[in-house]
Amino acid sequence: MHHFDYRNGVLHCEGVSLETLAREVGTPTYVYSDATLRRHYTVLADAFADVHCLIAYAVKANSNLGVVATLAALGAGADVVSGGELKRALAAGVPANRIVFSGVAKTEAEIELGLEQGIHQFNVESLPELHRLARVARRMDKTAPMAFRVNPHVEAAGGHAHISTGGAGDKFGIAWHEAPAFYEVARQLPGVDPVGVGVHIGSQIFRLAPLREAWTKVVALVRQLRERGVGILRVDFGGGLGVPYKPSDDPDSPALYAAQAREVLGDLDVELILEPGRLIAGNAGVLITRIEYVKERDGRTFVILDAGMNDLIRPALYSAHHEVIPVLEPASGASRAPVDLVGPVCESTDRFAKDRPMPPLAEGELVAFMTAGAYGATLSSQYNTRPLVAEALVRGNDYAVVRRRPTFEDMIALERAPDWISGG
Ligand code: LLP
Repeated sequence: MHHFDYRNGVLHCEGVSLETLAREVGTPTYVYSDATLRRHYTVLADAFADVHCLIAYAVKANSNLGVVATLAALGAGADVVSGGELKRALAAGVPANRIVFSGVAKTEAEIELGLEQGIHQFNVESLPELHRLARVARRMDKTAPMAFRVNPHVEAAGGHAHISTGGAGDKFGIAWHEAPAFYEVARQLPGVDPVGVGVHIGSQIFRLAPLREAWTKVVALVRQLRERGVGILRVDFGGGLGVPYKPSDDPDSPALYAAQAREVLGDLDVELILEPGRLIAGNAGVLITRIEYVKERDGRTFVILDAGMNDLIRPALYSAHHEVIPVLEPASGASRAPVDLVGPVCESTDRFAKDRPMPPLAEGELVAFMTAGAYGATLSSQYNTRPLVAEALVRGNDYAVVRRRPTFEDMIALERAPDWISGG
């Protein structure tokens, strides 16, 4: 469900023509729909309405201030993985007590920032990190509320090996069998208060079964810890529910996800924390790009776009599929022929799709990459000294540029040649 559709033959985001937006803002540009973002958050929040629940939006999926502020206004919390994301969440209006700090390598400065701000919880991923957290908290005369992220040894749950995190070989979390001993350490350690247990087994998960397995282990652990006198008050079930990228994709629904969470929790009296990213932002965004050239060579057709792997790296990094549709609606029954959709970057992996059946496309026309709202702009770079991709947020018939394209001067502002060169 999203708010991108053809109106009078032109792809629109809500009431805004993407042809007009492309002309006014330029390309490539990510375009987000306020209505879709709101809808996704609300569907999830409604599904958990009767549960004591904090929906901590995973900022890494789409950290644009406009997007995070839109969700914050609806009451969303934030799951952050760096001091930068923490500052973004605060700047976007997320109250500190709705922020969860995840991530495998929090620095002292990041821990200090979190404690200073009074965040809801630190998700700790190792014993050395626990000791660092305790040390910094004691120095600041504070107590850090924390959960261990437990690696439940549920293998290969993610949509792609690169985004599965719950297996024994993955770097994330403490090992399942270490948990009781580590919580005992935390219970006795001044400066930390073990209040929760967390898991996150991967991303783009279509089926609920691996999540059930992981959550069930968490609930059993909570009961075990309580028996040992550790006062666990919260469980964090992580993020991970997938979204459809292809028409044939059919992930289990948020309603089923919520029903399963309720069932697994049973009568366990806890606050439930969720960290959804993709589910909220994924199909709330598209990337619009203009065709620079159509090149025929060796029997292949290369459609060369002005967006490259630096703007949308998911296909190059995870062989991810994005539907690509023309901004001007093709005639019904238009013929389709296989083309390679590629970018301008000097890398062979700068290819978005191979042998993709597409209607006739010509230089100067616009196409849109669908379902690009999550892990699109946040993973973009300036490789090849290409300006960081712009972002626009649409609401109704209006849009705002929520990240402008940098100028060349912006792009090199942090660099300089050393004095010995000019002085030499
Ligand atoms: N919580 C933690 C601790 C995470 O590591 C992640 C994602 C999330 C929550 C949010 O997961 P989601 O609900 O979005 O699945 N760049 C990859 C995805 C990487 C996911 C990293 N962690 C992609 O483009 O597919």
